Amino acid sequence: MGKLALFAVLALAIATIVWLVLNTHPKEQYVDIVGGDTGSRYYEIDDPHDDQPPLHFDLLDPETAPEDKLNTILYGYHIMLDTRKHAAEYVGNTLDCNCCHFNAGNTLGGKNRGISLVGVTAMYPKFSKRDNKEISLADRLNNCFRRSMNGKALPNDSLEMEALLAYLAWISHEVMDAPMLPWLGLEPIPSNHIPNPEEGQKVYESCCQICHGRNGEGGTKIPPLWGPQSFNDGAGMNTLPALSAFVWLNMPHGQPNLTPEAALDVAAYVISKPRPHFNP
Ligand code: HEC
Ligand code: HEC
Repeated sequence: MGKLALFAVLALAIATIVWLVLNTHPKEQYVDIVGGDTGSRYYEIDDPHDDQPPLHFDLLDPETAPEDKLNTILYGYHIMLDTRKHAAEYVGNTLDCNCCHFNAGNTLGGKNRGISLVGVTAMYPKFSKRDNKEISLADRLNNCFRRSMNGKALPNDSLEMEALLAYLAWISHEVMDAPMLPWLGLEPIPSNHIPNPEEGQKVYESCCQICHGRNGEGGTKIPPLWGPQSFNDGAGMNTLPALSAFVWLNMPHGQPNLTPEAALDVAAYVISKPRPHFNP
């Protein structure tokens, strides 16, 4: 009896540690919330590999941008939130940037926060494996217009491009000198599980269908996951590492609770479905 109880306690402790490791996003480890009232600095980022003091920064509300740039920055913010309304001629489906970049990308990634764009201005130009050349931030966001939004590239001299670059520069400007931006990008799920689309269909039916629909068609305020109105087959979301990581961290919306294996399975199922073809 005594041995059994000890064993149970040990097993519980190990399970808790495993759960904590799996649920702590690797990117969050260098970023601490240091608290403070509205208007003061909230976060601290520290690279343990250098001896620089930690950098303190805040997430910046676009409404607080300086007067002379305010309208341009707010226009960019509204394009992110309601892309179909404010950049209609460049969008070919029923998505908005915000469907994947929650809060218009003004988050630090991780659970429930979508794909962050805070600091992207500091990261470009940079080499893109997909394009096999160095690309600008304008090129990068146009990749999302052409692939994720199944639409057309914004001209570099358009007002929409100017506004989006100004918005991204605004939400990035406090971290331009940060030693690292660990919240950017989707880290692949740490698991050796071989994704199984048949199992994924079961996950879809029990955890996703209620919102995204029987045929992945979405609904009012819910974006589609496949079919003619979804991202195209050239989108980053149409790859297993990105889709499974996004789903693991963010879905079901507001309550992400899938195991890594279920997230990989359901991603394989969604990727097996038809969607528009990307024409370069
Ligand atoms: C409670 C409703 C709800 C459930 C359940 C749900 N989602 Fe979502 N999903 C959303 C909403 C809402 C968004 C868009 C978020 C936004 O715009 O802020 C979204 C966005 C997405 C996106 C990115 C945008 C797109 O359409 O490609 C993917 C991928 C996704 N969900 C997959 C899933 C998967 C897989 C499941 C099941 C594990 C799931 N969702 C369960 C509501 C839901
Ligand atoms: C269907 C989901 C989806 C939609 C919709 C979407 N994106 Fe993205 N976006 C992604 C993914 C996936 C990445 C790559 C993340 C990574 O690097 O792991 C990305 C990356 C980016 C990046 C580069 C981020 C970095 O860290 O280098 C920018 C900038 C960007 N998107 C802008 C936009 C804009 C602007 C829109 C709307 C016009 C948009 N995205 C719509 C999924 C989406």
